[in-house]
Order: sequence, then C-alpha cells, then structure tokens
Amino acid sequence: MAWSNSVLIHEGEVRHVIATGIDITELRAAEDALNALNAELEQRVATRTAELRNAVERLEAEIRERQRAEEQNARLTEDLRQQAAELRAANEELESFSYSVSHDLRAPLRSIDGFSQAVLEDYADKLDETGQDYLRRVRRASQRMGQLIDDILKLSRVTRAEMRRETVDLSALARAISEELQQTEPDRRVEWHIAEGITAEGDPTLLRVVLDNLLGNAWKFTAHQPSPRIEFGARQEGGICVYYVRDNGVGFDPAYADKLFQAFQRLHTADEFTGSGIGLATVRRIVRRHGGRVWAEGAVGKGATFSFTLGS
Ligand SMILES: Nc1ncnc2c1ncn2[C@@H]1O[C@H](COP(=O)(O)OP(=O)(O)OP(=O)(O)O)[C@@H](O)[C@H]1O
Ligand SMILES: [Mg+2]
Repeated sequence: MAWSNSVLIHEGEVRHVIATGIDITELRAAEDALNALNAELEQRVATRTAELRNAVERLEAEIRERQRAEEQNARLTEDLRQQAAELRAANEELESFSYSVSHDLRAPLRSIDGFSQAVLEDYADKLDETGQDYLRRVRRASQRMGQLIDDILKLSRVTRAEMRRETVDLSALARAISEELQQTEPDRRVEWHIAEGITAEGDPTLLRVVLDNLLGNAWKFTAHQPSPRIEFGARQEGGICVYYVRDNGVGFDPAYADKLFQAFQRLHTADEFTGSGIGLATVRRIVRRHGGRVWAEGAVGKGATFSFTLGS
C-alpha cells in the first residue's frame, strides 16, 4: 500500500491536507524472508561443504590405506615369488644331484658284481665253500643295491618327466594291468572287480605307473589270502572324482598310513613280500604333479584301500 500527502493553502489558511503514503510492511517482510532464505542457504552450503570435505578426507584416507595394502601385497608377492624360485632351484639341484649320484654309483657297483663273478668262476678251486658263499653274498648285495639305484632313478624320472594332459581310460588301463599280473602267476585265482568307463585327465604314462603300483601292491599283498579280491572304482565326493584300489589282503597298521608314501618305507619284511618301498612314493609324486592327493586306509588282516584324486 502507498499514499502521498498534500496541503492546500488558500489566503494564508490551510484548507486541505492531502496525505499520501506507501505501506512498506510487505516489502520489509519480503526482505526479511529473503534474508532468512539467504542465511539458510548459506548455512546449507556451509553444512554441505563440510560434509563434502569430510567425505573427501575419508576417501583420501581410504586411498592411502589401499595404497599401503597394495604396496604390502606387492612386497609379499615378490617375497613369495623369490621363495618359490629358491625352492624350485634347490629342488632341481637336489633332483639332479640324486640323479647323478645314482648314475655314478652304477659303475663301481658293476665292477664289484663283475669281479666277484669272475673270482667265483675263475678261482672257484682256490676258494673253499665259505669263501664262495661270501662272494655270492657280495654279488647278491651289489645286485640289490643296483635295484635300489634303479628305483631312485625311476622316482627322480617321475619328477623330471614332461607332463601331458589328455583323457585317459583308467578302466582299460586297469584291465590291461590285471591281465599282465595274472600272466605272471597263471595259477593264482583273483576275483577282479574293475568298474567300467572310468576316465581321468592326466598324463597317460604317469597314470599307468600309478595303477601299476597300486594294483601291483594289491596283487602282492593278497598273495596269502585264500579268496583274494581286488577292486578298482571311482566315486564323486564334493564335485571331485576319487579313484580307489581296494583289496582284502594282509592290510596294515593304520597308525603308519602316511609313512607308506615315504621312499623305502615298508611295513612288511622282504621275506614276507618282495619290494623296495619305492612304489607308493612314486605314486604320491605323480598324483601331486597332477594337483591331487593320495591316502591309504586299512587294518591288519582286513585289507587295504588306496584312494587318490587328480586335482579338481
Ligand atoms: N595293498 C597293500 N596292502 C597292505 N600293505 C600295503 C599295500 N600296499 C602297500 N602296502 C605297504 O606299504 C609299503 C610300501 O609300499 P610300496 O609300494 O611303496 O613298496 P613295496 O611294494 O614294498 O615295494 P616296491 O613298490 O618298491 O616294489 C609296503 O611295503 C607295504 O608294507
Ligand atoms: Mg609296491
């Protein structure tokens, strides 16, 4: 609202007073409202800015933390890589050491065996029975040592051999091995149960060595059993295929189940059952090279089961 005032004076007298004016109450109110709005806006901007600053600081702290973690990770990875390289080098050195030792041991051994034989053949008349017996023992011992060296070489070859991966028909392999075993002792009656259609992804030569050893052991350790039974099969366990060879032979003390896989460890004497104790060590190496594991279950007089996986 607005108004104005005017005064009309006639002959020295005030006749009229006209007042005009503007009511600025609304304007004030609008101004106040504007001021309040401005203040509120400023407050909001200030709050938002503070929030943003906080968020930026948090982000920066997070980035610093992440960088630190990444640096630590990189250091750890580098350490691990170095350790793995050192281990690999040490392992290779050991392997080539045992390989050359085994190789170099053969030559003197051949001499011991060869000359003992020569003495036995050419000087038999100069030796009495005891002397000849001693020499025969020297020969047997050197031949046994030759066998052990062959076994060590076999074991080290398993680690050194290049590995292929293809689909292998384990059922067919097991059948072939069972027939070969049967041919070594045609008179032995063994009940074979070989599941059909069992395949695996792996190296065919190395997997043959695994089955040779496991089925060979089953064959050997059921020799004194009146109705021997040998089974080869597979089952799924948590999405992984577990292959197994089971027999009802002499079995073993389960307390030593892990020891069996160490080289030259045997739970039975050479008089009872022949062997060097290298077969299961070879099996474990091959299975590990395939990314799997192998374990044994058994009890004295109750047979044995050897199970293995070949990685997931
Ligand atoms: N099926 C089995 N039943 C009972 N004991 C077993 C069986 N397989 C292995 N063992 C035990 O584990 C030991 C180690 O087995 P491994 O195959 O390594 O050696 P080995 O058969 O004695 O000799 P090699 O395999 O070198 O000819 C055996 O001597 C035996 O005591
Ligand atoms: Mg064996």
